[in-house]
Amino acid sequence: MATVFIVGGAGQVGRRLAQRLAARGHAARALHRAPAQAAELEVLGATPVAGDLRQLDAAGLAALLAGSDAVVFSAGAGGKGGPELTDAIDGRGLELAVAATRQAGIRRFLLVSAFPEAARGRHVSDTFEHYIAVKKRADVHLVDSGLDWVILRPGTLTDAPGTGRVRAGLAIPYGEVPRDDVAATLLELVERPAVNRVIVELTAGATPVGEAVQALAR
Ligand SMILES: NC(=O)c1ccc[n+]([C@@H]2O[C@H](COP(=O)([O-])OP(=O)(O)OC[C@H]3O[C@@H](n4cnc5c(N)ncnc54)[C@H](OP(=O)(O)O)[C@@H]3O)[C@@H](O)[C@H]2O)c1
Repeated sequence: MATVFIVGGAGQVGRRLAQRLAARGHAARALHRAPAQAAELEVLGATPVAGDLRQLDAAGLAALLAGSDAVVFSAGAGGKGGPELTDAIDGRGLELAVAATRQAGIRRFLLVSAFPEAARGRHVSDTFEHYIAVKKRADVHLVDSGLDWVILRPGTLTDAPGTGRVRAGLAIPYGEVPRDDVAATLLELVERPAVNRVIVELTAGATPVGEAVQALAR
């Protein structure tokens, strides 16, 4: 059983992952900001860990990560707070988490990223264009980190109930995907370290999640 630290653990994907990890017997440690989120995370079976990416330094976050087997980064500013907050969370927050993971001696790092061509063919706001650029730079930073990484690029996230079936591959057509199925995919990635140093695009699909992730093992 693994101990998994989720940065963005109280987020919509993070919470779903924490619950699935706990249900499968893993220890989920969920970084959160608001004090009220602690009790909610405990109900899901996770251990709440209070902390803010804008206030922690690498040594401070490394101390919180210590003893974990894997780190999942699913934090993001969500387009709120303008480019500064996107830079601070999706950009520097990811860099901070990578540095802390290295300091803590943890190898495995899973990043929830985004399809770079998410808005191809339609007019997008400067905010969205900036967000996609920051996400891509974060991917590059992680790939250069020397960690055992997986970058998961889900399509547009929805709150539709999960189906347990996805399309996952190195390059697939853009689409939507329920957050439930993103969390299910992250759980399978935690359990399959043979899937390593690969960028995985993910949408709704027809393949059971476990099979889809197993097919990515090399
Ligand atoms: N929306 C889409 O269609 C889409 C598509 C592809 C990829 N993604 C990416 O998928 C990821 C997860 O999505 P989601 O729906 O789970 O997003 P979410 O619900 O907004 O979760 C993001 C989490 O990041 C946390 N966070 C923000 N600032 C922080 C800080 N300073 N310190 C610590 N934590 C901080 C938030 O904490 P609080 O709870 O305290 O606010 C929140 O829990 C995001 O990175 C997003 O960019 C989204």
